[in-house]
Amino acid sequence: MRWFAGVGVAGLAVAGAVLLRPATVYTHTPITTSIVFQKEIAQIFQRKCFQCHTEGNISMSLTTYKDARPWAVAIKEEILERRMPPWSAVNGYGHFANDMSLTAREVSIILAWADGGAPSGVLLADESKPPVFVPPLGGWDQGTPDVLLTVASDQKVEAASPDRTARFEVATGLAQAKWLRALQLNPGDRRAVRYAAIYDAASGRWLGTWTPGHLNTSLPDGVGIQLPAKGKLAVEIGYRGTDEAVSGEAELGLYFSEKRPAQVAMPLEIAAAPAIVPAGRTRERVRTETVLKAPTTASALWPRLGAGAKSIEVTAIRPNGVVEPLLWLKNYRPDWPSSYVFREPITLPAGTRLVMTAYYDNATGTALQARPAVSVTAFPPSRPPATLAP
Ligand code: HEC
Repeated sequence: MRWFAGVGVAGLAVAGAVLLRPATVYTHTPITTSIVFQKEIAQIFQRKCFQCHTEGNISMSLTTYKDARPWAVAIKEEILERRMPPWSAVNGYGHFANDMSLTAREVSIILAWADGGAPSGVLLADESKPPVFVPPLGGWDQGTPDVLLTVASDQKVEAASPDRTARFEVATGLAQAKWLRALQLNPGDRRAVRYAAIYDAASGRWLGTWTPGHLNTSLPDGVGIQLPAKGKLAVEIGYRGTDEAVSGEAELGLYFSEKRPAQVAMPLEIAAAPAIVPAGRTRERVRTETVLKAPTTASALWPRLGAGAKSIEVTAIRPNGVVEPLLWLKNYRPDWPSSYVFREPITLPAGTRLVMTAYYDNATGTALQARPAVSVTAFPPSRPPATLAP
């Protein structure tokens, strides 16, 4: 059987926040696939694209056939180039709970759909309605926060402004010290925010991160970080230029444990001394290592690489010589920073070396300073680390 789809789809779908327009106008494309938008494709997009591609979100909606069809060729290209979803971690090198990347199966399904004429599928399906549930924007993943703070209330992100990062300090208003177990940011306007990172302002210690694909930071069960009374948090927000001015206001929700947690998280940073990357230099290597003084369980990594970074690799070398790859960001995308949450926390014995190697390119005419650092969510193991047979 052979039929036609896309008749009259004129490529006029205007992207929500961004003035992106698909390049091609489709008429009478022969359909050569049984994979359809209303079923397989919408299900994959729901898992891997709706974090960002919905109405009012950071990029154009891909929730309905009408929205998505004009983008079929662009979708194919973005996927072949591994640009979408934006996820820099190399597959098989560390396993992450917040992994956004497409599986090989998902890639082949989407490509077959795009190559096969990108059909809608179900006869008489309403092509302007999403066939699957679209998660609403806003709200709190963990229920009402124990403390709700307002961030950046007077910020405006001007139209067409370039990407930029702003830093705000917010008083926690805590009368007494508390045990933090989770936090979540709620950007007022999802069109403008790429990421946010939250630190303890006094110590600079990393507390959590918000990205469109990973909205809340939760410590593993039984783990807590002490926040001092009357302390301040530093909130760094990465904004993206939009078509119209939007408010930069955000809310930060904090969640506390009633009791002292069984395991108190300890600050752990793998940080290189600042290195100068001369103008025009490529593949400049910056390497450092940190030796664990006590057995440590690690549950998440937050790499901060700065301008010019191309790649970073973090490995653990156990005292018995066994090398454990933790993270490899190969085509690092500075515009999409992310924390990397291990699917299973990793317990390492005392004496383990955490080795970080980062590479920088400096295409500019002036020297740049590279100071890569990786913050680690670390806490004492709940039981002694397993010893590997020699
Ligand atoms: C973390 C957020 C995020 C996720 C997840 C994501 N995208 Fe995107 N996408 C964006 C943003 C933002 C843009 C606009 C360009 C930019 O700023 O990089 C974009 C642009 C695009 C474009 C247009 C590129 C162009 O200009 O021609 C396509 C097509 C696309 N995404 C497809 C997808 C598909 C398909 C998925 C899921 C498999 C996906 N994206 C997942 C954020 C995301």
